[in-house]
Amino acid sequence: MTTTDFFTTGEDVLRAAIAAELDRTRRRSLALTDSVDDADLTRQHSPLMSPLVWDLAHIGNQEELWLVRDVGGLVPLRSDIDELYDAFQHARADRPALPLLSPAEARGYVRGVREKTLDVLDRTPLRGRRLVADGFAFGMIVQHEQQHDETMLATHQLRTGEPVLHAPAPPPSILPPTAREVLIPGGPFTMGTDSDPWALDNERPAHTVLVDSFYLDAAPVTNAAYAEFIAEGGYDRREWWTEAGWAHRQQAELRAPLFWERDSDGTWWRRRFGVTEPVPAEEPVVHVCLHEAEAYARWAGRRLPTEAEWEKAARHDPVTGRSRRYPWGDEAPTEHHANLGQRHLSPAPVGAYPQGTTPAGVHQLVGDVWEWTSSTFTAHPGFAAFPYREYSEVFLDGGYQVLRGGSFGTDTSMARASFRNWDHPIRRQIFAGFRCARDAARAERS
Ligand SMILES: [Fe+2]
Repeated sequence: MTTTDFFTTGEDVLRAAIAAELDRTRRRSLALTDSVDDADLTRQHSPLMSPLVWDLAHIGNQEELWLVRDVGGLVPLRSDIDELYDAFQHARADRPALPLLSPAEARGYVRGVREKTLDVLDRTPLRGRRLVADGFAFGMIVQHEQQHDETMLATHQLRTGEPVLHAPAPPPSILPPTAREVLIPGGPFTMGTDSDPWALDNERPAHTVLVDSFYLDAAPVTNAAYAEFIAEGGYDRREWWTEAGWAHRQQAELRAPLFWERDSDGTWWRRRFGVTEPVPAEEPVVHVCLHEAEAYARWAGRRLPTEAEWEKAARHDPVTGRSRRYPWGDEAPTEHHANLGQRHLSPAPVGAYPQGTTPAGVHQLVGDVWEWTSSTFTAHPGFAAFPYREYSEVFLDGGYQVLRGGSFGTDTSMARASFRNWDHPIRRQIFAGFRCARDAARAERS
């Protein structure tokens, strides 16, 4: 049973599926926090990140606020800690200095909250009130926890020391794209969704967007291609950078993707979850900021796709005219479709997921790396905040850039192709890469 199937199969089945999703998600959170000792859990590995123990208790606190108190109507377990774990009250850099719950207390707290949540799930009708219809609030909390799990995975990547996370290598390239780029013919398509039960407010409502013909890279930009950009002076040539990009390049002294280092032979190495290894040529580049992606695109004579172009390539079915849930169709992701859910600890090489391509032949739109787009985070027309302003609304028009498609660290519960992520243009600790696009020549437009 997967999240796409169980909405139509009755309330008991839905309830059992939600319990399974909550449990699957919690096992991931515990794997990320049990793999290091208490000192590591309370330490700040980067000023960009919270201590892992903050994320853990924050996960429990959001679950308590929404599922135990709001949906369940139960008395608070720990209203005294709400302020400590409110992400809007304390910047990440300040969180280590707070009187946080200890690792043992945080574990006990999330366990206590979960017991109450399961009681609430047992007795809550999953229909009627919008917050609970189709189990939305439970789905929102599953996705919230999984988002923090990906954030904790990024914290693991920033920590130094011996490797503590282990996973099999991603699958090899089986069938790389036959063409470098794919023509996406112009015309209208349906962006966003009205019907996806667990879609978040910023993905709604469904609306028609007219997109002109364009070419999209059949795969994300690889490490080999990116190394060529560096070798041709990519980081030294002002003309390939935007004004803001060049200023940041200078100020932050960017020379290569985060975690890359060149040895005296000129070979590039990267550090990945405590392992140092040669940069794999055919994997999508990861840990680059928007400015680096834009400079690469300009060097290559191309540009980044807009968010609408990305979504059209990922969802529009030219035969039926409808937008599908995933690049390959409506079937929930399996291990054969995409590199998701921390099943592997790196992107997979281009061509590793032929079953996940779009009918037009675009590979790996979902999974592997988040893809920077040229669009800032704005509301879909008709947007209405739900269930609270702080989920999306306070970030709209705030200078955030949209990323699409999810990474190897993104859970399947957020892999739908309408899902929107956003971050500051300078961020590199996230699992972000990109692919390029270009306008179609006038003669190629239909
Ligand atoms: Fe959060």
